[in-house]
Amino acid sequence: MTDRFAGKVVLVTGAGSGIGQAAALRFAAEGASVAVLDVRPEGAALTTMLVEKEHEGRALALCADVADADEVTTAVDLAVAELGRLDAVYNNAGTMDLGSVEDTPEDTWDRTFGVHARGTYLTSRAALEHLGPGGAIVNQGSIAALVGVQYLAAYSAAKGAVVALTRAMAVDLAPRGIRVNAICPGTCRTPMTEPLFRARGEGDPEAGVAQTLPKYPLGRLGTPEDIAAVAAFLASDEASFMTGSVVTSDGGMTAQ
Ligand SMILES: NC(=O)c1ccc[n+]([C@@H]2O[C@H](COP(=O)([O-])OP(=O)(O)OC[C@H]3O[C@@H](n4cnc5c(N)ncnc54)[C@H](O)[C@@H]3O)[C@@H](O)[C@H]2O)c1
Repeated sequence: MTDRFAGKVVLVTGAGSGIGQAAALRFAAEGASVAVLDVRPEGAALTTMLVEKEHEGRALALCADVADADEVTTAVDLAVAELGRLDAVYNNAGTMDLGSVEDTPEDTWDRTFGVHARGTYLTSRAALEHLGPGGAIVNQGSIAALVGVQYLAAYSAAKGAVVALTRAMAVDLAPRGIRVNAICPGTCRTPMTEPLFRARGEGDPEAGVAQTLPKYPLGRLGTPEDIAAVAAFLASDEASFMTGSVVTSDGGMTAQ
């Protein structure tokens, strides 16, 4: 493992589980102090414990809802006060509700946009008080922003907003030397995707996975670690000429 983040501080939202947890561990393995933000305090505490145990790294657990302006601003300010600086942000927090336009309740639509689009906006706005030249923001998109996926209307639309926001932010922040990129992951098996597999497999998640696999030319689903590696690259100085990029990590799913 390299030390691309030695002396740096990285904030990861939704870091209490899945891809966010893998990313917190990856940033720590490469030398970062990590601000571990999640709406579930037990998730943030678990990841913080893992960072400290596995990497002897510095980690700070933060409990906040990224859709709540006061909570997220307080959390970001606390991270900087405790960890001393802020170099990169991974806007990863997310939820996924299944449904077509006809069976998506309005509050589900609003909550989905609240977490993904508003959450990315609010977290970035709070972080920009602290990010300087060389700073990086990585936003979590999805292949659902790029191709149609059944029964994910609100989720797909919200991820589309995140991808569009990424390009807008990249242009606005380039003069300040701050880069903004998005990752569009293909399907990874995490707590978020279990209901999707269960629905596809008519109650049997393994059948749902089997049904999903043929869509993936590499013949497997992604892992949280696959996506965390891309996030670490985009947040690092190695990606210093990349901004406004929308990078797929999807086993070839959108290449066909
Ligand atoms: N797993 C996949 O196949 C996949 C594919 C493409 C994109 N993504 C995206 O990756 C991100 C992470 O997903 P995951 O699969 O690791 O899911 P996950 O459920 O394992 O983790 C998501 C984390 O976000 C937290 N969270 C949810 N709402 C929050 C809020 N309002 N404020 C703060 N934290 C909040 C949850 O508590 C949870 O710990 C999401 O944005 C998701 O849309 C996942």
